[in-house]
Amino acid sequence: MSLLERQRKHVLATWSAQSKAAHVSIAGGSGATFRDHDGRPWLDFESQVFNCNAGHGERRITDAMARQAAELGCAHPNAVFEAKAALGEALARITPPGIEKFLLCLSGAEANENALKIARLVTGRSKVIARWRSYHGASMGALSLTGDPRRLPTEPGLWGVVRAEDPYCYRCPFGLERPTCQTRCATHLERLIEMEGPDQIAAIFLEGVTGANGGFVPPPDYWPTVRALCERYGILLVADEVFTGFGRTGRWFAVDHWDVAPDLITMAKGLTSGYAPLGAVGVSAQVAAHFDDETLWCGLTTHGHPVSCAAALATIGVYEEDGLVARSAQLGVHLQERLQALRARHPNVIGDARGLGLFGTLELLSDRERQSPLVGFNQAPTPGSPAARLKSALSARGLHILLRWSYLFIAPPLCITDAELDHGLDAIDAALDEVFG
Ligand SMILES: Cc1ncc(COP(=O)(O)O)c(C=O)c1O
Repeated sequence: MSLLERQRKHVLATWSAQSKAAHVSIAGGSGATFRDHDGRPWLDFESQVFNCNAGHGERRITDAMARQAAELGCAHPNAVFEAKAALGEALARITPPGIEKFLLCLSGAEANENALKIARLVTGRSKVIARWRSYHGASMGALSLTGDPRRLPTEPGLWGVVRAEDPYCYRCPFGLERPTCQTRCATHLERLIEMEGPDQIAAIFLEGVTGANGGFVPPPDYWPTVRALCERYGILLVADEVFTGFGRTGRWFAVDHWDVAPDLITMAKGLTSGYAPLGAVGVSAQVAAHFDDETLWCGLTTHGHPVSCAAALATIGVYEEDGLVARSAQLGVHLQERLQALRARHPNVIGDARGLGLFGTLELLSDRERQSPLVGFNQAPTPGSPAARLKSALSARGLHILLRWSYLFIAPPLCITDAELDHGLDAIDAALDEVFG
């Protein structure tokens, strides 16, 4: 029996019918490349699941984990040890000004789950605003915040989530255009707040830059406008930086681009670069102060796990030692230019190219005149369709990359070399030529 057959017999694959699961064969790797069990190399343009920001085979992280496991591998969630104290200090240094304390949990979903509980506990209000084209995680609370259709099969979720429109400039939900739109995608939130009762809304949850729901980079005044609305109505602003944190967009966190200080910030993925499960909720001094004498009703058995703390500390060390955040900004300029050039070369199929830092999105079309998407919202490509053939053409060129609906996402490890990035982009160019001519 092959390894895959053995695994499939007893281990369930996620987010898929078991008969259709697309398993990823990965035996090891180095930098931006991993190899499968047949020894074939793959260029990782998805950083596994947008988390492996520091790259594969990073010994500085695995060595730190091994040392921690040998010294103290099992500890109470409120245990005191060096890696945890040092991680708190490191996070306070790199997160936006004003974020002071951190709840160390297990994942991005759980970080959002806890942020929701904290917002309710601090404000005494129960409703929250989140966007339609968003993903905040798969646990019940986080999935209730999520607008992505992955929430639909298990609804009803939590009560009290009010959904807002997105900063989707290419297909503006209000039919407006920059710059005359006056950023309606942000200002319409005020109407939602008024209609839903300003004294009932605890928080607004927003991804820094939208991740797998379309890669929307908000207009420059979007975040500052929402920040001002939150101040006006005493609502907590939660930045979900699970996808965009740790250098993905060329700054430590996406909100840093707009100098916005959220009240809460959630993170995971790049926090350990995928080497260990860890999420965190960062809170402002004001939010933290609420819990000086009130109980923080949050916690799991393996919170603040020693090996995860050591992994995160070492990962932040790698970002700093190798200047990977600055590298993402610098190489990101080249990536974004090349995506625009690809759009110019394939005007019939690439409708929009957008992004920030080492995160890019190509939005693909089936019909340029009508601006019809290559694959409809929440649709899977049918076998033999252009989208399916594109996916095969990309795989044939050794590219591990996500094509979701009409969005082709480019998000390699931040340590990718210039030559590797160009090689991957050339492969996209060639695959588009092969399928669309
Ligand atoms: C923006 C965002 N928030 C939350 C999550 C959930 O993170 P996790 O899968 O670690 O629970 C994700 C995962 O893709 C995400 O992209």
